[in-house]
Amino acid sequence: MKRAASFVRMIGVSKLALLGAALTTSGVLAELLLVFGELFVFESHPYIGIVSYVLLPGMIVLGLVMIPIGMALRLRAARAGFSFAALDRVAEKRGVHVGHAGQVILTLSLVNLVIFGVIGYRGFHYTESVEFCGQVCHEVMHPEYTAYARSPHSQISCVECHIGPGAGWFVKSKLSGARQLVAVVADTYSRPIETPVHNLRPAREVCEICHRPEIFHGNLIKVLEQYEPDEDNTRTYTVLNMRVGGGDDADRVAHGIHWHVSNEHEVRYYATDRKREDIVWIEQTSADGTRRVWTDPDRPVPPPDPADLRVMDCVDCHNRPTHVYLTPDEALDAALAHGRIDADIPWIRKLAFELLTIPYASAESAAAGLAELPAVYRERYPNHWTTHEASVRDAVPPLQDIHRSNVFPAMNVQWNTYSSLIGHATEHTRACFRCHDGRLRDETGAPITLDCRSCHYILANREVAPTILDRLETD
Ligand code: HEC
Ligand code: HEC
Ligand code: HEC
Ligand code: HEC
Ligand code: HEC
Repeated sequence: MKRAASFVRMIGVSKLALLGAALTTSGVLAELLLVFGELFVFESHPYIGIVSYVLLPGMIVLGLVMIPIGMALRLRAARAGFSFAALDRVAEKRGVHVGHAGQVILTLSLVNLVIFGVIGYRGFHYTESVEFCGQVCHEVMHPEYTAYARSPHSQISCVECHIGPGAGWFVKSKLSGARQLVAVVADTYSRPIETPVHNLRPAREVCEICHRPEIFHGNLIKVLEQYEPDEDNTRTYTVLNMRVGGGDDADRVAHGIHWHVSNEHEVRYYATDRKREDIVWIEQTSADGTRRVWTDPDRPVPPPDPADLRVMDCVDCHNRPTHVYLTPDEALDAALAHGRIDADIPWIRKLAFELLTIPYASAESAAAGLAELPAVYRERYPNHWTTHEASVRDAVPPLQDIHRSNVFPAMNVQWNTYSSLIGHATEHTRACFRCHDGRLRDETGAPITLDCRSCHYILANREVAPTILDRLETD
């Protein structure tokens, strides 16, 4: 008791120190309550994490810092100079037993150390969690989180791809995380978030924890089910045999689409823009010392600085392994194929596309706009309306859902903001054709392959009933 009284009186020499002590004490108490509550009483929630791992620890530390500052100021005011002897004199005047107060300070510091250990440990796990990365900054990460949640990688936490193992990336990520938190609080983050992500950890270190490109030898059959924008919404099939290939297989050299990421060689390129769309220089260096370079004869560039080169990795093609945003065509085709929208409604493919791709200003106005489908349909196709009224009305919720999960006006994420780099050139990205467009040539003048059959065999191209499907026995 005497010790505690000494401590309080000692702190009491300064109002600032007293306020600091009050802040710290209430911070610690609130923290203990929250941690206890999270463990035993209520479900953890992303915002509680922000309070218990960012705000309260900040308050506790602030309080702790205020104590010595307050005492130092007090001593200065007493013109005592900062020394323990001076502190002793000031304290003695107030009847403080410095030794006792010191013991209390030591004990409390030990308690604080334990508390910070626990907060630090839990805070670390919290900042690594999907809920923190994906849900706390709800508006900011809403697009990425939504797209992630429906992808094949939704069981993998954000940090497994974005940070990966190792101390270096850990430190980098916490620094950049702190910067991002500031940007969110100060409302200075970019909308949409810029892509490609320039400080992404080299994908091969991340993806190859689970995937090994040397194992992908052989082809991959893709069946695309699509609907035409005509009265019957005519269904067609495109069947591609993708030559995925691979490399480093014991008895085969790198070949096919995964040739670019073989362990036998490295492909590096130089792009003039941050989007990496304008590629003007490519180099392949092999383990055996051979080297090939492709350049654009119409736009010769001096050999680029190695620091500006990008080593081609998985993400140069698989830029959407988990943040999978569909195009309006893909989303509608899937909804019709799965029967969420009735493909028997005449003209529905065409009209739905029209309504979906209106640039709505907000998610709410999009939902309202799409709810107009029955009214628009009725006006345009009065004859079909009478026979299909119910299914047209049923098409509204799936349409709203398609829009909600691919377009995020609050973040300026529109259709095709985040296009996939796998495929042919579109107005949004030239994808594979950033390099495979005949522009870039090697020393002999030969262009990078443009041959359809080096990338895929086309087994059917927009056919209504391709025989290959019977042979594949798909359903
Ligand atoms: C399977 C690996 C993987 C997982 C898991 C993952 N991401 Fe990504 N993320 C990527 C790749 C790859 C990119 C695109 C990089 C590029 O285009 O340069 C990306 C891009 C982003 C971007 C930039 C905007 C964009 O869409 O290009 C944000 C923001 C982001 N991720 C947040 C998250 C959050 C939040 C989570 C967890 C909810 C998460 N990521 C989980 C691989 C992943
Ligand atoms: C922690 C393990 C893990 C990591 C890391 C990982 N993946 Fe995957 N990936 C999987 C699993 C498991 C599947 C199969 C999911 C399924 O079929 O349900 C998969 C599926 C895929 C597919 C096929 C997708 C499809 O639509 O069928 C691609 C492409 C892919 N991953 C690329 C990547 C890329 C690129 C990265 C690095 C950015 C990556 N993966 C990181 C485990 C992982
Ligand atoms: C040059 C572009 C390119 C690069 C680089 C690339 N891929 Fe692929 N990958 C493809 C294409 C194209 C397919 C065929 C699937 C498709 O068309 O959607 C594919 C298919 C796959 C599949 C699915 C295979 C299957 O049989 O289901 C996985 C998994 C995959 N890639 C992982 C990776 C990983 C991991 C890396 C990096 C080590 C990588 N890819 C590098 C273009 C690429
Ligand atoms: C950064 C430039 C670049 C991009 C992007 C790129 N490629 Fe390539 N690709 C090359 C170069 C260079 C070669 C080697 C020259 C050649 O074979 O004609 C090559 C070769 C190939 C080959 C032949 C490999 C073999 O068996 O010898 C295939 C198949 C291929 N690419 C498919 C793709 C596909 C599919 C995509 C998009 C998903 C793609 N590439 C994107 C640069 C690129
Ligand atoms: C550099 C590699 C490459 C070359 C060269 C190439 N393609 Fe493709 N093609 C792709 C990729 C990648 C896709 C997308 C596959 C997917 O959906 O995952 C694709 C998709 C397609 C599709 C389906 C498109 C759709 O969505 O309806 C058709 C049809 C097609 N290609 C025809 C051709 C023809 C014809 C040629 C030659 C004139 C050709 N391609 C040359 C890589 C290539």
